[in-house]
Amino acid sequence: MSVLICGGAGYIGSHNVRTFMAHGENVIVVDNLVTGHRASVPSSVRFYEGDIRNGEILDKIFTENQIDAVIHFCACSLVGESVEKPLKYFDNNVWGMISLLEAMQRNNINKIIFSSSAATYGEPEKIPILETAPTNPTNPYGESKRMMEIMMKWLSNVSNIKYVSLRYFNVAGAWHDGSIGEDHKCETHLIPLILQVPLGKRDHVTVFGNDYPTKDGTCIRDYVHVCDIADAHVLALEYLRNGGESNIFNLGSGDGYSVMEMITAAEKASGQKIKLEIGARRAGDPARLVADSHKAREILKWSPKFTDMAEIIATAWKWHKAHPNGF
Ligand code: NAD
Ligand code: UFG
Repeated sequence: MSVLICGGAGYIGSHNVRTFMAHGENVIVVDNLVTGHRASVPSSVRFYEGDIRNGEILDKIFTENQIDAVIHFCACSLVGESVEKPLKYFDNNVWGMISLLEAMQRNNINKIIFSSSAATYGEPEKIPILETAPTNPTNPYGESKRMMEIMMKWLSNVSNIKYVSLRYFNVAGAWHDGSIGEDHKCETHLIPLILQVPLGKRDHVTVFGNDYPTKDGTCIRDYVHVCDIADAHVLALEYLRNGGESNIFNLGSGDGYSVMEMITAAEKASGQKIKLEIGARRAGDPARLVADSHKAREILKWSPKFTDMAEIIATAWKWHKAHPNGF
């Protein structure tokens, strides 16, 4: 039996491909390469270049392979862009999910692990955030993820499809040997942007606001290593294979780091001083987002291996230094 990784050529998907392979799984990938990279997937993996909104391609994949479960990473995921182009997000994310679930039903595939996001919560009422917290997304990206979760919930009520939705907080870092990592042409994430300074690709990093009600005035986020995220997917699949019910889990470290602390950790990881400038707040940024991930620890027996921020950033640094222009 094989596992189908949708979006396996992307940042998080490609780390999952390697992690599932390391656990002895046979992996198949489908990806339209809109933001992914063919080179991030080992050549030994059967790769289908295609769009999951195309049901014929999915039927072909499910017919040509014995697939036991789907791991679903495909999405447009730029928060700012989603505000400007909401329909792009509902088309790719929501319609993509409908197409995938329909194909799973047609082909009797009954397990799916889904990449959800802290963006489903919106502005939190309480920190740390529990899975039972209200979901009031503040942008179309978060709304699309919430809609995808809701579709799985209603479908699982009337079919044999079981799902695990993993709500990631801030995903960081790269594969230990620096061979794969984050390579987004339109980069908005803090760590790659900070590391562009010691790489000589930008003069400084801009800190988006230092007047938040936090210890140093900059935003606090919960960063979790991409390989720890991948381990959680392996555990989630094991959970469903063992008869676990459909469920939702937060994935975060439970520790909050401010933007200033992240720059200091990046200086330690890169061994270089990093120039910064204080800029205006970025619209829609909550002051503090930290996960309560006890549920994943208790039920999935998930335990993040990376706990030191400089160590997490050091893995990203290794990747960016070896591939300053990406793949
Ligand atoms: P990414 O853009 O690197 O990966 C997404 C992959 O899916 C790409 O390879 C892309 O080409 C592919 N894809 C997109 N739409 C497709 C379609 N319709 N058909 C086929 N392939 C398609 O993004 P990422 O950072 O690896 O994120 C992966 C998932 O995790 C996304 O769903 C994202 O919303 C979610 N997520 C990411 C973070 C984060 O911090 N990076 C946080 C929370 C949730
Ligand atoms: N930041 C800066 N300067 C930059 C870039 C970011 O100060 O140049 C700050 C942001 O304001 C924020 C923090 O660094 O406070 C982290 O920003 P990212 O863009 O790296 O990540 P976000 O917290 O905005 O977004 C992440 C995921 C999204 C997910 C969201 C949930 O990337 O997919 O968490 O809130 F939707």
